[in-house]
Amino acid sequence: MIRKVLAFETSCDDTSVSIVDYSGRVLALVSATKDLDHEPYGGIVPEIASRNHSLSLLPLTEEAFKKAQLTWSDINGIAVTNRPGLIGALIVGLVTAKSLAMSKNIPLIGVNHLEGHLLAPFLHDDQYAPSFSFTEPYLALAISGGHTSLYKVEGLGKYKILGSTKDDAAGEAFDKFAKMIGLGFPGGARVDQEAQSGDPKKYQFPRSMIHDETLDMSFSGLKSAAQRLVSDLGSETVKLNSSDLCASFQQAILDVLLSKLEKAALNTGLKKIVITGGVSANSGLRIQAEVLARAKKWTLAIPPLRFCTDNAAMIGFAGILHLQAGVRHDWSLGPSPQSWPQDFEQ
Ligand code: KG4
Ligand code: ZN
Repeated sequence: MIRKVLAFETSCDDTSVSIVDYSGRVLALVSATKDLDHEPYGGIVPEIASRNHSLSLLPLTEEAFKKAQLTWSDINGIAVTNRPGLIGALIVGLVTAKSLAMSKNIPLIGVNHLEGHLLAPFLHDDQYAPSFSFTEPYLALAISGGHTSLYKVEGLGKYKILGSTKDDAAGEAFDKFAKMIGLGFPGGARVDQEAQSGDPKKYQFPRSMIHDETLDMSFSGLKSAAQRLVSDLGSETVKLNSSDLCASFQQAILDVLLSKLEKAALNTGLKKIVITGGVSANSGLRIQAEVLARAKKWTLAIPPLRFCTDNAAMIGFAGILHLQAGVRHDWSLGPSPQSWPQDFEQ
């Protein structure tokens, strides 16, 4: 019986280590975010991310054991993100996980980062419990810095992609807009903060593909429109109207995301809804999704902030479910910048 796993997440810039049990209970979750190291470059520098992972991973592992008050003898497996992500960053987590699994003689499982996000709302700890169980089919909107897709989830490993962005991810649009108006990096949370005191109707931004029949989305037109507006307004006006710009830009993204989610719920008949991934930390999105859920009588699950941005707990939960289902990876397991073809049904 696999009761507890140690999990690593190093697919992008955050280094995260967790210990999770078979029910999704998070016994420890410790992360190192090194945004300041990347900020001068206006985006994530893969080489810096890899170096930070190799410095932080083992100290965080020790800290996780201390927090959970557990030792290696309590751990029955190691779960590690091996796809998709920055290749150098993935290698650091994977090589460390393999070495530890080999030396401790416990099974290893490579996890798809996006599957982790899909399962994140079903984690639990003293402060948070999910509103429904992972055993029921649900509709998921996964929104992060690299991906924006709608999925129908029918159980472990049964993830059907219903629609995706055709170009930029929603998080990427937030980040680029923040950079454009001088809010720095990482941008999503800063745009969110500014937007809270702004007028979402002050500036008109396009809502591309919102009336399109499919569940696909597009955010690159929004980015170009923002670029044009920002250069027309000039830096002084942009600075003075930063809150209204952020609120209007954010609302354009939220309108597209929520209208596609509503359409997907209608098409599939599903009323159990999950919103997950880094952008699900957005406060405007959380409020508007709750309102929509009440109106549509959905049961909505949005993970708390610590589980919606990149974290190892979600990797541990996905990993332990696969280990319990008998899946094992051997020492030939490699990293992949993309998902494996069998990960998602198109
Ligand atoms: O899932 P995540 O932590 O990493 C990836 O797998 O990409 O998502 C990171 C993305 C970034 O683009 C970041 O700007 C965005 O999530 N983000 C937000 C907020 N917090 C993080 N976007 C909007 N509002 C937020 N509060
Ligand atoms: Zn992520």
